[in-house]
Amino acid sequence: MTVSALREAVPADFPLIAGIYAHHVQTGLASFEEVPPSAEELRRRFQAVRARGLPWRVAEVEGRLVGYCYASPYHSRSAYRFTVQDSVYVAEDSIGRGVGTALLGEVLEACAATGYRQMMAVIGDSANEASLRLHARLGFRTIGQALAVGVKFGRWVDIVYLQRPLGEQTARPPTEDPEGYAPPADQAGP
Ligand SMILES: CC(C)(COP(=O)(O)OP(=O)(O)OC[C@H]1O[C@@H](n2cnc3c(N)ncnc32)[C@H](O)[C@@H]1OP(=O)(O)O)[C@@H](O)C(=O)NCCC(=O)NCCS
Repeated sequence: MTVSALREAVPADFPLIAGIYAHHVQTGLASFEEVPPSAEELRRRFQAVRARGLPWRVAEVEGRLVGYCYASPYHSRSAYRFTVQDSVYVAEDSIGRGVGTALLGEVLEACAATGYRQMMAVIGDSANEASLRLHARLGFRTIGQALAVGVKFGRWVDIVYLQRPLGEQTARPPTEDPEGYAPPADQAGP
């Protein structure tokens, strides 16, 4: 199977995107959400991603949407402004066929091109081999683990943190903010 198209998402994609994500929310530990969000809610998240100038890509195989990947701010406080995190989900029947690699590769390139300098992967479940291998093959390095910070399906779940530099690495931070960045009104977290 070869990915026939990688393109930016459009609002009409969201019923299919919601279906892919719902499966992983209901059956897997990668996401710490327990109730699948509606297509409308995911469309709202998409609009927030696009408003920040960040990519939300979808992959098609023979005209069918089989996966998606997007970048979002790692944390909202302004000093984090050069750091994003990725989310990547592939339809159950298309896993293990290169779709995730193609999608995440595109999102990495798009983020580097708009001036971001670090991408974090925050992976639910230390046994999530597919996600750990996907990120490792695209140059992410494991930097830590948070033990038993989640509870899902009646068991404790770990988070694994991976990180990958983007673009040119310089000792001094750039003087220009990433393209499309605007300080958020609400700044939660550390
Ligand atoms: C993680 C995920 C996005 C990877 O996408 P994919 O299209 O399946 O991945 P690819 O086919 O491009 O393969 C990437 C790597 O994952 C490995 N992989 C894929 N499926 C696997 C599986 N079921 N078990 C173990 N490794 C697997 C591949 O062998 C490859 O590693 P390699 O280069 O060392 O051989 C996809 O499996 C998925 O949607 N999983 C459920 C949700 C999830 O975990 N999302 C990530 C949230 S951080």
